Amino acid sequence: MKPNNHLIAPSILSADFGNIYGAVDMINESEADWFHIDVMDGMFVPNISFGFPVMEAVKRRAKKPMDVHLMIEKPERYIERFRDAGAHVITVHYEACPHLHRVIQQIKETGALAGVAINPHTPVTHLVDILEDVDLILVMSVNPGFGGQKFIYNAIPKVTHLKQLLMERNLSPYIEVDGGIGLQNAERVLQAGANVLVAGNAVLGADNPHSVITSLKAIGNGSLKNIPA
Ligand code: DX5
Ligand code: ZN
Repeated sequence: MKPNNHLIAPSILSADFGNIYGAVDMINESEADWFHIDVMDGMFVPNISFGFPVMEAVKRRAKKPMDVHLMIEKPERYIERFRDAGAHVITVHYEACPHLHRVIQQIKETGALAGVAINPHTPVTHLVDILEDVDLILVMSVNPGFGGQKFIYNAIPKVTHLKQLLMERNLSPYIEVDGGIGLQNAERVLQAGANVLVAGNAVLGADNPHSVITSLKAIGNGSLKNIPA
């Protein structure tokens, strides 16, 4: 099967924060589809990234949807604030939400798309009772917390399995894969059934980020319909 429909979401975590608008402008001008925004609280993951002021600064300049990946405990405390700060998609972690169904409804009530993320050790089967409620499922292909880590190849069979569970139910949320993605593995991830690729280091760590985005996008024909910015 040839992949032909996917979105590219560069992660600004790998940007130079001294020149954040340099990265925002590059993404605006490229064929990338979304801004992937990694929020970390130093509790759910062993790292702290950034919060509302940085997101609001990105929002002022971004011409494409903001895909917000919350690696935080008790995300229900901040859903409305992330929406106000510019989020089009808000993804929470399965592992951080004992009342996941309620949080998903809370996200939808703000008007944002609702996503759920799973860590590398969490089986996709744990999602069967939430599949029909979500707009996006994010399969982590690294342990969340840092950019620039090595891709965990077990994510590929997980995506295949997830795709099968969705097809059996006639559901088609976005399937996003995040962590360690680059030109060396993107095609396999897409072939497994993913249709949103996050890329941090592979894009923003490159000498020519723009051309890496073009190459990631060119793997398929990129005709998947986007959401409005
Ligand atoms: C990891 C983050 C990722 C990360 C991706 O916790 O969720 O979005 O920034 O960066 P790379 O592509 O460098 O692994
Ligand atoms: Zn992420």
